Amino acid sequence: MSEYYRLNSLKQIKTLFNSKFRNDLIELVGRRLRVSKDFIYECYKDADNDLDFYIGLMKGFKKYGGKDQAFEYRAKKRLNDVKNIIGEHEVFMYLDYGSDDCLIPNTISKDYGLNKSSAFASDISDKCEYDSNVTFLKLVPFEHSHIYNKKYAESFDLFSAFQSLHHVKDLDFRMEEFRDLAKKGCYFIIREHDASSVFIRMLIDVEHLLYEVFLEDRDLDDFIMNYYALYFSKKELVDLMEKYGFRLVFSERMELKKNPTKYYYSLFERI
Ligand SMILES: C[S@@+](CC[C@H](N)C(=O)[O-])C[C@H]1O[C@@H](n2cnc3c(N)ncnc32)[C@H](O)[C@@H]1O
Repeated sequence: MSEYYRLNSLKQIKTLFNSKFRNDLIELVGRRLRVSKDFIYECYKDADNDLDFYIGLMKGFKKYGGKDQAFEYRAKKRLNDVKNIIGEHEVFMYLDYGSDDCLIPNTISKDYGLNKSSAFASDISDKCEYDSNVTFLKLVPFEHSHIYNKKYAESFDLFSAFQSLHHVKDLDFRMEEFRDLAKKGCYFIIREHDASSVFIRMLIDVEHLLYEVFLEDRDLDDFIMNYYALYFSKKELVDLMEKYGFRLVFSERMELKKNPTKYYYSLFERI
């Protein structure tokens, strides 16, 4: 039995390097930061612990690495995924959960001909800047948002959550809202990691660190001490959704050549 070493244990990187997931780790770091394999090995060789590894990597990243700025392209990809997955399903009322800067739900809302009264984005952070076509709901953990009322009860036909559910501390509370806001037949499209082993959980931690510390300039110490995530497997997600009245329509692994952190989509339907 392997153990899930958290980021702050200073054992993740060593454990991953010494496991059969070494190539996945190298692939992940190389692809996200656009640094070479040789450089990653050098950083590992020179490091006594995980922190040294990240500090070495940061120096090289600043010198040789590259940031991925293709956010609009990413939002268009999510829109295409949604269209392929939900097909002819009609959407009159839409809510995205964990929307960050709101670019993705805004792009989807525009394409579906929705507007501020029929499309909502939501997050606990205040980073929403693309809100021409969505109303932003600033969420406070364990407090109902203002749309949780009779007017909106059983009115939504589409919810989406792209890589957000594993960050949410008040998930059960919010799931009760989704259950009550959903029309019968409402679709809930979820993009998540299939965290079915401790190694995959550790790889997902590393991926988040790369995003937040290397690509978004969050302080490394702060990330290591305060990062929160609760990952689940595909099966655990199905159990959660069934508890709140949604049944699985289908679930599929992404068609990616390499997918070390096991992204997949699931589509659920309110019964
Ligand atoms: C990895 S980001 C994904 C953002 C966006 N969906 C995307 O695909 O680019 C996760 C988002 O979940 C949000 N989040 C974290 N905890 C949350 C909570 N309790 N309720 C709602 N959103 C939350 C974070 O603020 C962050 O914007």
